Amino acid sequence: MDQGPAITGKSIPRIDGPVKVRGQAKYAAEYDVADLLHAAIVSASIAKGRVISIDAAAAKNFPGVVAVLTHKNRPWFWPFSFLYKDLAGPPGKPFRPLYDDRVLFSGQPVALIVADNYEAARDAAALVSVSYEREQHATDLAVEVSKAYKPPRHRLGLAPTPHPTGDADRAFLASPVKVEASYTTAAENHHPMELFATTVEWSDKIVTVYDKTQSPKSVEIFLKVALRLFRRKVRVVSSFVGGAFGLGLRPQQSVILAVLAAKALKRSVRLVLPRDHMFALGYRANAIQTVSLGADENGRLLAIKHQAVAATSQSEDAQDPMLNFSASLYRCDNVKLTYQLAKLDTVSPCDMRAPGAATGMFALECAMDELAYAINIDPLALRLANYTERDQSENRPFSSKALRECYLQGAERFGWAKRSHAPRSMRKGKELIGWGMATGVWEAAMSPAPARVKVSLLADGRFEVTTSITDIGTGTYTILTQIAADALGAPRERVVVKLGDSALPFNPIQGGSWTAATSGSAVQAACDKLKKKILLRAKQTGIVGNGQATELLSPAALADLLKLSGSDNLSATATIINVKFGKKYASATHSAVFAEVRIDEELAVVRVTRLVCTVAAGRILNPATARSQIIGASVMGIGKALYEDAATDHNLGRCMAHNFADYHIPSNADVYDIEVLFVEETDDKVSPIGVKGLGEIGSVAVAPAIANAIFHATGQRMRDLPITIDRLTRLSD
Ligand code: MOS
Repeated sequence: MDQGPAITGKSIPRIDGPVKVRGQAKYAAEYDVADLLHAAIVSASIAKGRVISIDAAAAKNFPGVVAVLTHKNRPWFWPFSFLYKDLAGPPGKPFRPLYDDRVLFSGQPVALIVADNYEAARDAAALVSVSYEREQHATDLAVEVSKAYKPPRHRLGLAPTPHPTGDADRAFLASPVKVEASYTTAAENHHPMELFATTVEWSDKIVTVYDKTQSPKSVEIFLKVALRLFRRKVRVVSSFVGGAFGLGLRPQQSVILAVLAAKALKRSVRLVLPRDHMFALGYRANAIQTVSLGADENGRLLAIKHQAVAATSQSEDAQDPMLNFSASLYRCDNVKLTYQLAKLDTVSPCDMRAPGAATGMFALECAMDELAYAINIDPLALRLANYTERDQSENRPFSSKALRECYLQGAERFGWAKRSHAPRSMRKGKELIGWGMATGVWEAAMSPAPARVKVSLLADGRFEVTTSITDIGTGTYTILTQIAADALGAPRERVVVKLGDSALPFNPIQGGSWTAATSGSAVQAACDKLKKKILLRAKQTGIVGNGQATELLSPAALADLLKLSGSDNLSATATIINVKFGKKYASATHSAVFAEVRIDEELAVVRVTRLVCTVAAGRILNPATARSQIIGASVMGIGKALYEDAATDHNLGRCMAHNFADYHIPSNADVYDIEVLFVEETDDKVSPIGVKGLGEIGSVAVAPAIANAIFHATGQRMRDLPITIDRLTRLSD
């Protein structure tokens, strides 16, 4: 084959870039379907209670309206909850809209208007009048924390909160230096650019569902079972996903409602959930945490105690790995972690980029900064003094760990050595300057489900790589193209990658930062197989003799080969099954983030003027797309630190934000320099291709680094996120 230099590891531009900027990449709400109906939701105005009656007469009479669907007239819905646990996405129950008369949270869909145009559906929705039997709701975590409980069963597939080691209570009391503080983090909402939307193309034989999801395969299985579509062929397509950070791991309200309506009417239906409904789909659980650190005078940790109470809903015990890393990140013999939940009358919290870790590490890394100041040593020196080469919680070595290099290279790049230790000691004009840092850690996982990939030689000499997983914007199309091109020895123009379609080989759930490692390994294996097959076939058909692979694999020769092979097309499939390396090694991605803030002394406006993010995530397949991941995650980290707060009006039990005027996310003007450095790790244990994955690690350490920088700038320890202007008081004394 005309094999050029390897492209894996190079910054080749995004394969899907051109179609995206030309508007040719189709998203779920953009598919043209004949005779399409449009739906709009009516959502509950109370947080808890029952629907007594729904008066939809005016809506039904509204011009263009075709039907009004409620819990009374919806099609069949799988009535038992147990099956939902393992059907789709993270264990737990996907919320079932229009299931019954119970109202579990404010904003819950209670009716669906279906009309022949979107405007009619939306206008008619405003005419529906619902009467409720209202019950007393509880939405305030600060109040419900008194009823915190230990989750009865830990979430399937999730490592449980590690058991205590040593005697942390006693060791803490006996420690010469102690810090103990409580931290709160606000609920955050997912706001991907693309709204959750579904277009259902209905026919008697096949139902094609264009959906915004992180797992077309899970949605297909869910729809077949939960909505009794197993007699039809169901195909779920999400070729392009306009950002998804965990909310798309489960079948969302949009796809369930749209398919219910399509099934009821035997018509094609589209439902786009409006931006304000994003506040009723799921959220990063708000949490109240306490960290107690005991140390000797040199900063060596003697005790770590970390307690958290996280919000969950009435309908499930939503869990994420909030404390797990507190047991493994630093060397310490006495660790005690307490993870509890408190039930609120809200939609269920759900995974959101680095779920758990972004919350738990905020508290741990701020506490480490507090300890550094209690002992009066440099915050980076404190981390290095407690560095561990082993996973403390399970006493295993890491498959690889270049965190030390991250610390050192990041510090060098940032100029950390020039930092003056005392708070309020750096300023320029009327701005206080603060430098802070924090450590990040996240799993280096492979998909718990098998991943299957098929590679076929096409008649024109190109190679087609297919698998059902989506590209949620992470660069999956691009890195799989790179891996396939190198494995086949073909230029990248001759590789076509098709993703995001449940009809393609089984490969569910883009998430957990595991797609590059898992799907990449499957692509590599399938391509290796196909190449062998082609060479063998070439010999059998007598096209070439031994050792002439280079000329053989030209497009023309391949076309001849295909012809000679007759109907026996040339393809290969490979399945990667996650065989963890037993209990021998722990695996994780790491980061060190250094932040500079400048704070107007009179106005308390915080600007994050510089971030240096150093990341160790195994082998980097494409520095450009990898860098994009870390930059995007860092912007989310700025949002978490300074802006994002899905605040609830506890009288109404309702999220007060309905748009980006109420719910602040960083805008371009809030984002300054973000520099990303990768410290590559050679790791032949973590995954067959040495990749760890890096969607989530980027968002873990940014918020604590910023909070620590704010302390350094102002001398005020900010323990509650977001750190808004009103919380930073009296800067000029
Ligand atoms: Mo990620 S929170 O697994 O989308």
